[in-house]
Amino acid sequence: MRPAEAAESLPPRCYSSQDFLDLEIERLFRRGWHCVGRADRLSDGESYAAIELAGCPLLLLRDADGTLRAFANSCRHRGTRLLDGDGSCRRIVCPFHGWTYALDGRLIGAPEMEETLDFLKEDYGLLPLRLGTRDGFVFLSLDADAPELEVWLGDFSALHAPWSLGDMVTARRREIEAPCNWKLYLEVFNEYYHLRSVHPRSIAGLFDRPDPPEAVTGQYLTQFGSHEGTAGLLDRHRDLAMPAIESLAGRNRGGTRYTWLMPGFAFAVTTDLLWMHQVTPLAPDRTKVTMTACFPSAAFDLPDYEARAAAYFERLDLAIAEDLAVLAEQQAGLSSPLARPGRFSRLEPNVAAFGRWLAGRVSDG
Ligand SMILES: [Fe+2]
Repeated sequence: MRPAEAAESLPPRCYSSQDFLDLEIERLFRRGWHCVGRADRLSDGESYAAIELAGCPLLLLRDADGTLRAFANSCRHRGTRLLDGDGSCRRIVCPFHGWTYALDGRLIGAPEMEETLDFLKEDYGLLPLRLGTRDGFVFLSLDADAPELEVWLGDFSALHAPWSLGDMVTARRREIEAPCNWKLYLEVFNEYYHLRSVHPRSIAGLFDRPDPPEAVTGQYLTQFGSHEGTAGLLDRHRDLAMPAIESLAGRNRGGTRYTWLMPGFAFAVTTDLLWMHQVTPLAPDRTKVTMTACFPSAAFDLPDYEARAAAYFERLDLAIAEDLAVLAEQQAGLSSPLARPGRFSRLEPNVAAFGRWLAGRVSDG
């Protein structure tokens, strides 16, 4: 719980124990608010996306009026999971016995139920969840006692306003499985210390020494570093830069901001690219990661958009491959009964800050 310069890292068993993961699911993921990606994952028309949070299958549904809602992905008849993947649909029909729901969650069809006593369709709509959107991100909560989303996020929107995050458009989404604990994956994304040793020939040269993290009022960590131009391209692809985010001014016109929305979502935004990682723990040492990359809308009008976008994806994929290799080694070493807590350099302030946040939450019974 000490400041970074005096703190030890989390006990190694926090990264390898099933009991500790169960505690995290209960106290971190089933409480508070969670970013689950970008709102443009669901197209403007009637559409759905089946997702999972804290072991719960969930449904995001957008109705014909554009309203986005979230529900449990379980039929109210005898519990069957209703949908998988994402796509468009005008209503939801349970594959088991044909109960049918509208996109606002109402039960609109339930065959053969006329003789069931006191059965009213209005009592058996899909179970709704709390949902909010901010700056193009979708937030969900499984927790009726969580504070309002604006309280949870505090000054998040004000601090990120220079980047106009709500105007960024998804270019690519992909899923991978990382061979490590969910916290290790997000920790490496949020520190500059490993750049020179893990990414010496790819991305280390894109970054300069960052500013200290800002003091913020929401449940997130953030740190800005100024550097030349974009961090979204390898040096040899500099001539393929996308149009910069129009609203950027002053120091923000060259640099990158890294932000960690606790517990399980982190993103970075540079002059022309927003990229993010959402983690879903599968086991203490295995994590599903959903990566999304977004560009300013003007990028999509460029005649050579595909070639330019491919250069950004190459840079992102290269850096992740380099990180995954070292994360597998970190997981192997940390899983040993001989592993011990370590100490932090001055380039890992938000790894230490995340440890403090986590320690406070898991010990708050
Ligand atoms: Fe890295």
